[in-house]
Amino acid sequence: MLRTAAFQEGRVLMLQVRAFQLSNVDVGRSSILDPAELTRAALFSDELPRRRFLAGRLVQRHFAAELLGLADDRLEIDYHCPVCGQGPWLNHGRPGYTVEGRPVPLVLSLSRCGDWAVVAGQLDADLTGAVGVDIEDESSTAFEGFDAELLTDGERRLTLNTPEHSRPRLRAQLWTRKEALLKALGTGLAREPNSIDVVADPRVRSMAPEPLGLPADLAVAVAWLAVPPLR
Ligand SMILES: CC(C)(COP(=O)(O)OP(=O)(O)OC[C@H]1O[C@@H](n2cnc3c(N)ncnc32)[C@H](O)[C@@H]1OP(=O)(O)O)[C@@H](O)C(=O)NCCC(=O)NCCS
Repeated sequence: MLRTAAFQEGRVLMLQVRAFQLSNVDVGRSSILDPAELTRAALFSDELPRRRFLAGRLVQRHFAAELLGLADDRLEIDYHCPVCGQGPWLNHGRPGYTVEGRPVPLVLSLSRCGDWAVVAGQLDADLTGAVGVDIEDESSTAFEGFDAELLTDGERRLTLNTPEHSRPRLRAQLWTRKEALLKALGTGLAREPNSIDVVADPRVRSMAPEPLGLPADLAVAVAWLAVPPLR
């Protein structure tokens, strides 16, 4: 099932956030993807992760094309990695597209978790903003050392002051908020997650999974930056 949620905050225009079940995506259409995407897909040794990668790239492309009012096979990828650079040859990093060599006026972000994916995007004529989205299963943060290694002092205090039965949910929310913000900043985990406190950061917010059509045990966060991200 596909659902769209949107929110508005101050001067922020509508940010579209949409969830997809990857097993419902027809990966038979993968030939519309770009060579760099197909090359990366070929590197997966197992079929299921390969299909989920392709499905994520297909739904992201379709979502972008729909926001732009274009056919999805007109888009060419234009990924940006803080280490490797930017271009149609790059198969990882922050997503973006061009049409006939010109960047499309759209900022977007993708996250996958198991059979689920979420894409968030916004038309942005000047390409001065940035978005980030992340979804995680509550179980993904349930490991020894999560609080000590990945949270800030303030986030650790919040976790300690939260009833034990609510901590798995809180940890998943904190982690999705961090990854959403780090994606919007364009660094991803190249920047230390414990260097950024997301408890009250107005650039990031958690979303309820159910209105998006996602299972209740997934945590979802989106981040939106109005200024050019750090390079
Ligand atoms: C992206 C990241 C934050 C989260 O990954 P994750 O939770 O395992 O996976 P998610 O499904 O939530 O997100 C994956 C998507 O994040 C996006 N992404 C990757 N790097 C990104 C970056 N630097 N900025 C913004 N978005 C990024 C891509 O759209 C990617 O989708 P893809 O698999 O189709 O390429 C983490 O893997 C990361 O930081 N990776 C890059 C680290 C880096 O820069 N290394 C140097 C590479 S040379």
